Amino acid sequence: MDTYVVSGGNVLEGELVVQGSKNSALPIIASTILTGTTVILYNCPNISDTINLQNILRLLGNKITYENHKLVVDSSSCDINEIPANLMKEMRSSIILMGAILARTGRVVVSYPGGCEIGTRPIDLHLYGLQKLGANIIENHGYIICEASRLKGSEISLDFPSVGATENIMLAATLADGVTIIRNAAREPEIVELQNFLNLCGANIKGAGTSTVKIKGVPKLHEADYTVKSDRIVAGTYLCAAAMNKGKLCLKNVVIDNIWSIIHKLQETGCECRIINNDEIYIKAPKKLKAVKMIKTLPYPGFPTDMQSQMVTMLSIASGTSIVIENIFENRYKYIPELTKMGAEITIEGKAAIVKGVDKLNGATVEARELRGGASLVLAGLAADGYTKIEGTKYIERGYEDFTENLKRIGAKIDKE
Ligand code: UD1
Repeated sequence: MDTYVVSGGNVLEGELVVQGSKNSALPIIASTILTGTTVILYNCPNISDTINLQNILRLLGNKITYENHKLVVDSSSCDINEIPANLMKEMRSSIILMGAILARTGRVVVSYPGGCEIGTRPIDLHLYGLQKLGANIIENHGYIICEASRLKGSEISLDFPSVGATENIMLAATLADGVTIIRNAAREPEIVELQNFLNLCGANIKGAGTSTVKIKGVPKLHEADYTVKSDRIVAGTYLCAAAMNKGKLCLKNVVIDNIWSIIHKLQETGCECRIINNDEIYIKAPKKLKAVKMIKTLPYPGFPTDMQSQMVTMLSIASGTSIVIENIFENRYKYIPELTKMGAEITIEGKAAIVKGVDKLNGATVEARELRGGASLVLAGLAADGYTKIEGTKYIERGYEDFTENLKRIGAKIDKE
């Protein structure tokens, strides 16, 4: 259990349909509790993160069914406002429930989420935003108690365009009195999806996708059906897998506009990328990948930090030296020592990874310690000579649905152990 075994060296060819987006689904699932009624979400990915969030919602008093990617949340009896510490620890991103629970019940108690494998991940911007909306916040022995009988619209300038803080403030402000303006808001596609979903339920939000989001509070939301868009990072991961394995792969159900920064870097390595019908992408790998001059992770529309490890892994077998700079999370190179065990030549200098391409990676036993770094070790194994054993695959299953089955479908030799 919790291990994949990969036999490397197979060409990846065929078609895959990309799953629904984890980072869109999570805040949307959290926001369902604002409605006080029944919401149906289609294309909700079947991954441990969305299952864990469903379990938290059940504990809060919501009725939930989930089958064939259709999630039904009836939040009419959601009246518990405390998230148990063990669940909070298991799922850091449940912090996005704060704004929603506070708006729904006037109070929320969560434990401090603390750091994680990719960095310290503070929540000061979340708390600042909620405070600006009138919440009274007490931090006590690792718990955060947040209270507000009525939330009031406010102008909030974020020091950094945090995705989670922008989402949390949007959720809290949706039912607040008056107008909230978030400046320096995150511009990620997931913010646009959250706006679209909430507006479908009767909210009045404008500006998502720009750095100023304006939320006019409404007294109540209503029922809605919504289909979650596809996952841009999962799409990017499969594209890198194909690029590393002489692949010819067609990905279906892709929001092309959300992945241009990834496509451009793949083209720089010599991959041919063709867009078909605006929602499919065909990639053909070159005989030998080329290094890229520079990749810098940045808030959207810059290159996503969630694709950094897959790109570094791909560049580890390109000809030449590439420089990658991680600007978002300070601790996102923890997978690199594992890659080095497989023969990669990568040095880290502060925020920079200097990736000197090698001819071949070699199979080894490696450990996944977080989601994207873990998926990258699978990519490395697919391209390596011999067998690679990836331990800690529960992290990968937080975000990738049927990862091994999908890779098998396109020719990989990979099994769960
Ligand atoms: C979300 C994504 C994650 C992605 C990240 C950046 C989800 C569930 N997760 O995470 O996959 O890697 O966006 O695109 O959608 N920060 C603060 N104070 C805060 C909040 C954040 O200093 O209160 C800092 C963080 O430490 C980090 C940076 O802001 O350096 C970006 O974090 P943020 O955009 O908030 O990421 P998440 O929402 O946690």
